[in-house]
Amino acid sequence: MHRNKRFFAAMPNKMPSTDRNLHPVNLPEGWSPSSWRERPAMQLPTYPDAEELASVQRELRALPPLVTSWEIMALKQHLAEAQEGKRFLLQGGDCAESFGECNSDVISNRLKVLLQMSLVLVHGLRMPVVRVGRFAGQYAKPRSTDTETIEGTTLPSYRGDIVNAPEFTAVARVPDPRRMIKAHARSAMTMNFVRALIDGGFADLHHPEYWDLGWVTHSPLADEYHHMVAGIGDAVRFMETLSGSEVHNLNRVDFYTSHEALLLPYEEAQTRQVPRQWGWFNLSAHFPWIGMRTAALDGAHVEYFRGIRNPIAVKVGPSVTPDQLLKLIDVLNPDDEPGRLTLIHRMGATNIAAKLPTLLDAVRRDGRRVLWVCDPMHGNTESTANGYKTRRFDNIRSELEQAFELHAAAGTRLGGVHLELTGEDVTECLGGARELTERDLERAYRSNVDPRLNYEQALETAMLIVRKQAQIAAPA
Ligand code: PEP
Ligand code: CO
Repeated sequence: MHRNKRFFAAMPNKMPSTDRNLHPVNLPEGWSPSSWRERPAMQLPTYPDAEELASVQRELRALPPLVTSWEIMALKQHLAEAQEGKRFLLQGGDCAESFGECNSDVISNRLKVLLQMSLVLVHGLRMPVVRVGRFAGQYAKPRSTDTETIEGTTLPSYRGDIVNAPEFTAVARVPDPRRMIKAHARSAMTMNFVRALIDGGFADLHHPEYWDLGWVTHSPLADEYHHMVAGIGDAVRFMETLSGSEVHNLNRVDFYTSHEALLLPYEEAQTRQVPRQWGWFNLSAHFPWIGMRTAALDGAHVEYFRGIRNPIAVKVGPSVTPDQLLKLIDVLNPDDEPGRLTLIHRMGATNIAAKLPTLLDAVRRDGRRVLWVCDPMHGNTESTANGYKTRRFDNIRSELEQAFELHAAAGTRLGGVHLELTGEDVTECLGGARELTERDLERAYRSNVDPRLNYEQALETAMLIVRKQAQIAAPA
């Protein structure tokens, strides 16, 4: 059977006339891949040995890139279409990948969940979905404090496997630049496996059973999902009978990668010029984002991001004012380039109604071109009495539903969702179809950082997006 030979769709040499003009943002004045070094940098580790850090950067610069500029430009086109209301963005994966979980099961299960969710979304929203993984590089974490104290001992905080190790010992917590080389290698292995799976037909719509996860057969959601899949299978076979040939493109999907581009020495070393394109690309991921804690206008991260040609995203938290947001848009997308800028709001279920509408109004009134995406996870983190960091599914649901309503009321469009999820049977978030309780958290809590939706809760989220969108679209 014909298999997709163009995973991560190759860009044609000449853009067809229907493509948007992703017109050049002029090379930003005074920018270079290292100009961030002149700005205040938040959340970066202090490496004990500057010489070793420089040597690791030299090594990284010489390694092959993880993605290519034409894949990046293809994604930018897709995001431009999402801005026009023609696509929906599904972005999801772990809060933090770990070196220890770079294995076949974790990677393929996460891919399965994302494929299932995207099937639910395509079917329910009746539009193409842009699939972006939070993987193959999601190794650096911002922390609320620089140090952690346990029983009188104070050590540097764990900042993700690309920086140090989570164990609470002095040795484990020393930032080690060699970890960047490991992270690059793990990202390449993850990417290689995902590309091979998809290239080999794993995402083929003729065989959605490839993506079934063993432990789900008893899920309360299984019936609804399988019913939908059977319906799609019938439709595919019907179309193939009618046309007398295989329906095109059902065996291929595009999958893109993203991570929080937090560790600037690593990102800088992956920032390159490529033949036949002007400007600089971050070739460690298609779609890097700026985290909420590092989105200061005059900070190092915004400085770095303004100069790369990738599509980029910024997390927007409840403390951002309309004025700050407009200034940020000016700096990051001065030419209003299509597909360039995504704003991911993460307000929390109790804040969103008070905080989001003024931002939506300001951006709409100014006619700025952005893609609005909701992250219903990071504003809803809490601690339980038994000491677990968790999130209630009800709050996640509530923030998402409110987001759809607030956008509809503001005359803007919610064009995507950003989620922390895993294909593993973990118990980290409370509630959902299986009504996980605080006691369940003890059973399978595995995250080193933030609590993730498990498979079932993730699928439920996709279903609730479809229901909410249908309700919003229905005439009153
Ligand atoms: C994250 O996405 O894991 C994260 C830290 O988010 P935020 O920057 O929104 O807090
Ligand atoms: Co997180």
